Amino acid sequence: MNLGSTGKLRLGMNIDHVATLRNARGGAYPDPIRAGVLAQEAGADGITAHLREDRRHIMDSDIDGLMEALTVPLNFEMAATDEMQAIALRHKPHAVCIVPEKREEKTTEGGLEVAREENKLAHFIAPLRDVGCRVSIFIAADQRQIEAAHRIGAEVVELHTGAYCDAHSEGRFDERDAELAKLTEMATFAHSLGLEVHAGHGLTYDTVQPIAALPEVIELNIGHFLIGEAVFRGLGPAMAEMRRLMDEART
Ligand code: PXP
Repeated sequence: MNLGSTGKLRLGMNIDHVATLRNARGGAYPDPIRAGVLAQEAGADGITAHLREDRRHIMDSDIDGLMEALTVPLNFEMAATDEMQAIALRHKPHAVCIVPEKREEKTTEGGLEVAREENKLAHFIAPLRDVGCRVSIFIAADQRQIEAAHRIGAEVVELHTGAYCDAHSEGRFDERDAELAKLTEMATFAHSLGLEVHAGHGLTYDTVQPIAALPEVIELNIGHFLIGEAVFRGLGPAMAEMRRLMDEART
């Protein structure tokens, strides 16, 4: 269902970096499943977790635990590999978000190259759709990629907001505004094709409102900043402030 501008903007909480902290020490604390449940209790509309090939943060057992513990939808982020496809098919999460993955990167650096891999990706996502997962493709705000995502049968595109956020935090305001203009135009374009539009990456209290104000965007996925802020305020209050800013921008 595409809620368009009439629905409430959803906040998907990415809990990867609770697992990053846990893995820095080894052992069980802090527990990302507890973070997911707390975020859900604090009003998250979904929980996002990225099972990377190198398991640097989320581990297989976290996905098992999240599937069991959550009542809100799990958005399972993964690379387009056979291993990840098998895991997704076993768990059948509500949503699967296909992202590019490079071993050496600190975080997902760019959007997926869909246009050049159309056939391969169409075959890759078909079984996921067959078992009922909503398939989302994480892409740059680029018309070619959006058209390709539409052609391969994705239901959702998540627009990468990283370049916009980086330009803001580095004070390159002309570039930031140019990135925002691209995101604005491409959100409208994706929506016109019937795609559900999500956005995320690098969003903070300072950068969220112009993205939240885009009427076609119906879900934001936010992780690193909120987990960092939770260290100071607690997870619930950190999320509540993000929610407040999102709602304010929407009205
Ligand atoms: N959306 C996608 C597809 C991502 O890969 C990430 C990062 O894992 C996010 C959203 C959240 O980004 P951040 O942690 O910078 O808020």
